[in-house]
Amino acid sequence: MRKIAIVGPGRVGESTAQILAKESLCRELVLVGVDDGVARGIALDVQESAPLFGFDTKVSGGADPTLLAGADLVIMTAGLPRKPGMSRDQLRDANLAVSRAVVANVLRHAPNAMLLMVSNPVDVLTYDAYKQTGWPRERVFGLSGVLDSARMASFVAQASGYSVRDITALVIGGHGDAMVPLPDYTCINGIPIKHFLDAATIARLIEHTRQGGAEILALKQTSSAYDSPAAAIAVMVEAIIRDRKRILPCVAVLAGEYGQCDIALGVPVVLGESGVEKVLELPLTGDESTALIRSAETVRASLTGVF
Ligand code: LAC
Repeated sequence: MRKIAIVGPGRVGESTAQILAKESLCRELVLVGVDDGVARGIALDVQESAPLFGFDTKVSGGADPTLLAGADLVIMTAGLPRKPGMSRDQLRDANLAVSRAVVANVLRHAPNAMLLMVSNPVDVLTYDAYKQTGWPRERVFGLSGVLDSARMASFVAQASGYSVRDITALVIGGHGDAMVPLPDYTCINGIPIKHFLDAATIARLIEHTRQGGAEILALKQTSSAYDSPAAAIAVMVEAIIRDRKRILPCVAVLAGEYGQCDIALGVPVVLGESGVEKVLELPLTGDESTALIRSAETVRASLTGVF
């Protein structure tokens, strides 16, 4: 992949730029923001770390949407962040307006790109971008499960004392309080966590995962999380760039999988050079299915009145 554009060089966008450049995940990186000076300044700052990290990625920035031209992947981090006590859904109308303007620019200047949505409410914005672009669902997807699963894996590591290297967690559903952490699919080196942790501990870390983003916001007050979201974006980008065919939970447009359509929701997908190459349908228990339906209903409620 030659060129990646990050639209919205706020904290998540800036951290993402630094990781993508440091890991040499593209030849060219552009940061597009409403404030020309801020976008150019951040680009310069990241560029000047190149000799220290040893990357040859060319980094530039600005307010001009023509910077998007030729981008293979556009990462959408623009929009308002949450304030303490707010739900992600409360950002809907403001961020839909931002997202539609960004997507219009992407359609104009980078019509062959893939679109990775990050701004919240991400499930709603991903589905809206899918409708607005008319692109196949392979090319329009969002960040949620990689981040939520990383949070869950961190809490499993803390509770068990074992290495994060051996822990894989899985969280599906909408990126909101009704998200669905799946303890039966959460393992330490292949061994389900129920062999290490009691039911009360697992229940506690499920709730902690659901509240992970809000917890950081409540502590920081003036900023949402951005280090772990940026790291999660980089994991998705790396899977695409290196065509790894990784199985990762992502916000994907559903076409009947899990009994859902006309919606985008966090589900396990195969992520490779074409984007979302496949949506995987896991067998779920009755309780897990009920929780996923409840989460989908929350997202659907948030889609009401959008179209
Ligand atoms: C969070 C934001 C990215 O979960 O939604 O921290």
